[in-house]
Amino acid sequence: MEELAFIYRRRSVRKFTADPVPEEHIRELIKAASFAPSGSNVQNWQFVVVLDNAKIEEIAVIVEKKNAELAARFKDKVKADGLRGMVRYYTLFKGAPVLVLIYAGPYPSLGETLLADGAIAPEEAAYYARPNPAIQNIAAAMENLQLAAASLGYGTCWMTGPTCAAAEISAYIGDDEIKPGYFLTAVTPLGVPAPGAGSQPPRRPPEEIMTIIR
Ligand SMILES: Cc1cc2nc3c(=O)[nH]c(=O)nc-3n(C[C@H](O)[C@H](O)[C@H](O)COP(=O)(O)O)c2cc1C
Repeated sequence: MEELAFIYRRRSVRKFTADPVPEEHIRELIKAASFAPSGSNVQNWQFVVVLDNAKIEEIAVIVEKKNAELAARFKDKVKADGLRGMVRYYTLFKGAPVLVLIYAGPYPSLGETLLADGAIAPEEAAYYARPNPAIQNIAAAMENLQLAAASLGYGTCWMTGPTCAAAEISAYIGDDEIKPGYFLTAVTPLGVPAPGAGSQPPRRPPEEIMTIIR
């Protein structure tokens, strides 16, 4: 369907050219992200845009170090090596001209609100907290950003891998740059896709993932 072409254009891009992304485009993409829906229109997101290549490289080094540290904690060598092997997918933003760090602020779920009031026990609160609306808000914004970027001819890759080093990355950026109570939820590189970059893996067909109740 032609109207949905912008959806199918997006794919995870993990290699970029060195072409810069004009700041006006970055601003437009963040604006598009902010037009995502959010519970009670809370807009509990903060986008930290890193344009300095040396800083992007340094963030990758921080993630590499953290990955090695966490892998060393596994008693099982196979699991340790498995995590070490993931480091490539945690740091592929290295060559991108732009890195966007997406921070989530609080948006209490019903479970948290009831728990804070002492109205329910923690186990029951966990049940009501499962939909995690705070993170759903951020995911909606990330998807908007990615679809908008693809529509302008840019590549992105939704990444949660680097958040293993969330505290270290935030300390490097400068904790005072980040709104109080916000935490790193995901990152995406942004740039012009390198030739041939981004081969979208297949999807499960609608018949497999859809249940119709008549
Ligand atoms: C929540 C989330 C986390 C992801 N984390 C990573 C990551 O850390 N590294 C990576 O290379 N890709 C990551 N991806 C990208 C997925 O691998 C990719 O979306 C999936 O394979 C489908 O491919 P497509 O995006 O090209 O359609 C992540 C995607 C999502 C939605």
